[in-house]
Amino acid sequence: MTGSIETLTSSLSKLNLELPPSVNGSFPESNTVDLCRNFIADQLSTLAQVDRTLAYTCLEWSSVLEKGDLILPLPRLRLKGNLDELAIELSKNFKLDGYLEKVIPQGKFLQFYFNTQFLLNYVTKDILERTIDYGSCPLGENKKILVEFSSPNIAKPFHAGHLRSTIIGGFLSNLHEKLGWDVIRMNYLGDWGKQFGLLAIGFERYGSEEELEKDPIQHLFNVYVKINVDVKTEKEKAELEGVELDESTSTDGLARSFFKSMENGDEKSIALWKKFRELSITKYITTYARLNIKYDIYSGESQVKQESMDNVTKVLKEKNLVTEDRGALLVDLKNFGEKKLGKVLVQKTDGTSLYLTRDLGAAIERKETYKFDKMIYVIASQQDLHTKQFFKILELMGNKWAKTDLVHVNFGMVLGMSTRAGTVVFLDDILEAVKAKMLDIMQQNKEKFSQVEDPETVADLVGISAVMIQDMQSKRINNYEFGWDRMLSSEGDTGPYLQYAHSRLRSIERNCNVSSEELINANMSLDNIVGSEEKLRNSGLNEEELNKKLEQLSNQREKVQSLIRILASYPDTLRYASKNYEPSTIVTYLFKITHQFSSTYKVLRVMGEEKEVLLARLALFSAVRQVLNNGLKLLGITPVDRM
Ligand code: ARG
Repeated sequence: MTGSIETLTSSLSKLNLELPPSVNGSFPESNTVDLCRNFIADQLSTLAQVDRTLAYTCLEWSSVLEKGDLILPLPRLRLKGNLDELAIELSKNFKLDGYLEKVIPQGKFLQFYFNTQFLLNYVTKDILERTIDYGSCPLGENKKILVEFSSPNIAKPFHAGHLRSTIIGGFLSNLHEKLGWDVIRMNYLGDWGKQFGLLAIGFERYGSEEELEKDPIQHLFNVYVKINVDVKTEKEKAELEGVELDESTSTDGLARSFFKSMENGDEKSIALWKKFRELSITKYITTYARLNIKYDIYSGESQVKQESMDNVTKVLKEKNLVTEDRGALLVDLKNFGEKKLGKVLVQKTDGTSLYLTRDLGAAIERKETYKFDKMIYVIASQQDLHTKQFFKILELMGNKWAKTDLVHVNFGMVLGMSTRAGTVVFLDDILEAVKAKMLDIMQQNKEKFSQVEDPETVADLVGISAVMIQDMQSKRINNYEFGWDRMLSSEGDTGPYLQYAHSRLRSIERNCNVSSEELINANMSLDNIVGSEEKLRNSGLNEEELNKKLEQLSNQREKVQSLIRILASYPDTLRYASKNYEPSTIVTYLFKITHQFSSTYKVLRVMGEEKEVLLARLALFSAVRQVLNNGLKLLGITPVDRM
């Protein structure tokens, strides 16, 4: 599990380091950057007489390593006097202990450089020991979060909006779990409404029990398409003849009355609906499993209790929030200072419930049932208005938690998501299409392909990672074009590229074949990893040769320095991603570490080195492999060992 203060203290004492006092809300036992922040904050509190917590919060990430690992803008400490001079003075008196390499004044700023040797000793071991747990921290301990995501509509296409909600929601659930939250994953199905009336009538006409059992989602969709053709034809015919549609015999009328009977709780109608729903869920479960997603709850619009919705209208009336318009109930949000949110219908003239009213009832039920501290809705930005409206109404009703505990995580659209076979309608179709394409690509390299043990599985996993990385690599609010060829390429920043790096690292590990025990105890001194300058100077090389070697050495040193810093920043990256609910933060990080690994591996070979050097280099690269593995899993991707 997450490291404890005791193990931290004992590992530090082995490195002759003392544990600095912990600032509240910092996690030095699981985040080395936090440990360094605490060390710096403690010194600042004595040297400049500032509050330790204030100093801690004022430390900023630097954008480039040349400017240090952390930067402190002195004006933020609210100190009086000449800050330029203070910066110089502080830097002179700063104790470095083993944590820092140097402290440099830069105008009114202080730049702090972590001690590379400390990071190499401490972070590498930490990663290799904590393995999959590296990155996690108990930030959300004892807190509960409900994440509602995916939420497709039964019998209707699973469109890009649902795909993105699934991917982003799956990630956000994993992320919060890593950060110590108690996570409830919920799928809120579109499983109620007139479409079920149409489905029932359609099933009578075109349905087959056998096909329903075989592939319920596909079959119900086919039935739905056919029955909609009937509705359309009837409508056009009536229009042409200039007659009204007969409610009692027209398809549309029959569907409406079937849905009415469902709403009235008619047993036979409910039984049929229930069957459609349950078979669909069974199929959903297996499809989501391909994406490593398992729901705690399959809820849905049908599950919102009538009582909850009645209660909503009751409160709205009591609080004078509604106006009546020809039997329908409206909330005019402009009366409550929300001009842009307009008028919202909460009850239709015929009394049937609405999407929005169900959302109101559902939110209140969930708060009561799960007592969440936070609830996230992962819904496309096309529903921004809807979401703002129902959040606001909940608040106006007197639910204070609606203002503090509800988060809408929205996202942009996907353009051009269709296959050669036509428009994709289901998640399974998308995944199958990507897998087939990936297999094609893999087969182009006959020799390599023959070495892959289970090409089908590899193609599936790598294909899925292509879809997921493409989806999460830019800010979620952006639209993107679904690029079949681009996302599957192993060049450029793609899912296959990350998978390729992972399998390459795996193969390095396999070739070296040393125990994890040996790796954890490797001698991580920089001189051991890249070689020492002194040794070179004493090796009797001529000046030209020597200079060449020295340059090589400093190049290798810089690469190792960058790599270990990126490794150390992984826990911080998770915390940052959770602030903005941004998967791209993690994806960007994974590309950064993968690029840095590639360029380091080019100048730092492992195989063929003498044992002690080999162990140290492999420990470093193994740590990279572990972090890449952790990051991919966090995103919902299964890393492959060979491809
Ligand atoms: N089923 C809806 C749709 O496909 C999405 C549901 C989003 N969640 C919610 N609580 N409204 O558009």
